[in-house]
Amino acid sequence: NPKAFIFDLDGVIVDTAKYHYLAWQKIANRLGIDFTHEHNELLKGVSRIRSLDIILGLGNVEASQEDKDKWLVEKNEDYLNYIVNMKEDEILPGVVRVLQYLKDNGQKIALGSASKNARPILEKVGVLHFFDAIVDGNDVTNAKPDPEVFLRAAQLLGIPADKSIVFEDAVAGIQAANAAKMVSIGIGDATTLNEAQYNFNDFTEINTDFLQTLVNK
Ligand code: BG6
Ligand code: MG
Repeated sequence: NPKAFIFDLDGVIVDTAKYHYLAWQKIANRLGIDFTHEHNELLKGVSRIRSLDIILGLGNVEASQEDKDKWLVEKNEDYLNYIVNMKEDEILPGVVRVLQYLKDNGQKIALGSASKNARPILEKVGVLHFFDAIVDGNDVTNAKPDPEVFLRAAQLLGIPADKSIVFEDAVAGIQAANAAKMVSIGIGDATTLNEAQYNFNDFTEINTDFLQTLVNK
């Protein structure tokens, strides 16, 4: 009986935070808002709309819905200009090995991301074919830490939540996995992600013995 292995995208499969940062910075600069790398950490796992609100909050900037909508479009157009140039070498270390191992062992693989750009990114970096299901920002109404995105992914795979495993780099994502009663695996700083059941700095630390333990659970 296969398990469902559900991957977050940004910060787990690819390091797109730098591109989000560059695109948001243009908007912030124009509005005279100081937007640092530390501020960018606040946007991990957070939806596009919520990200803009956080940035405007940093500068105590009030804006009309019309302006906000315009900036959201501009930000995304700019972000997409970075995405089109992405290559396979931007996949984070160890990710392809883990995906390949799971595929070779008959496991089900899904994406569970807040991004509305998930498909083109997976395609650009050449890993789209690994995924049996994709649930992204176009499909869900409730953002992480709500478990909706992961529950939908497991459902599409036909696997119960308690037979599902989630890889996440954001606190809200770990909380979503826990709320879904799935196994939560934190990728990144273990102190930040201390609510995760397991922690690794990156996928190079995840060996096949550990993956096999998850498969046999
Ligand atoms: C998440 C990122 O995966 O997707 C966030 O961690 C981002 O930083 C969110 O804001 C939405 O992404 P997009 O591509 O729809 O703007
Ligand atoms: Mg993420």
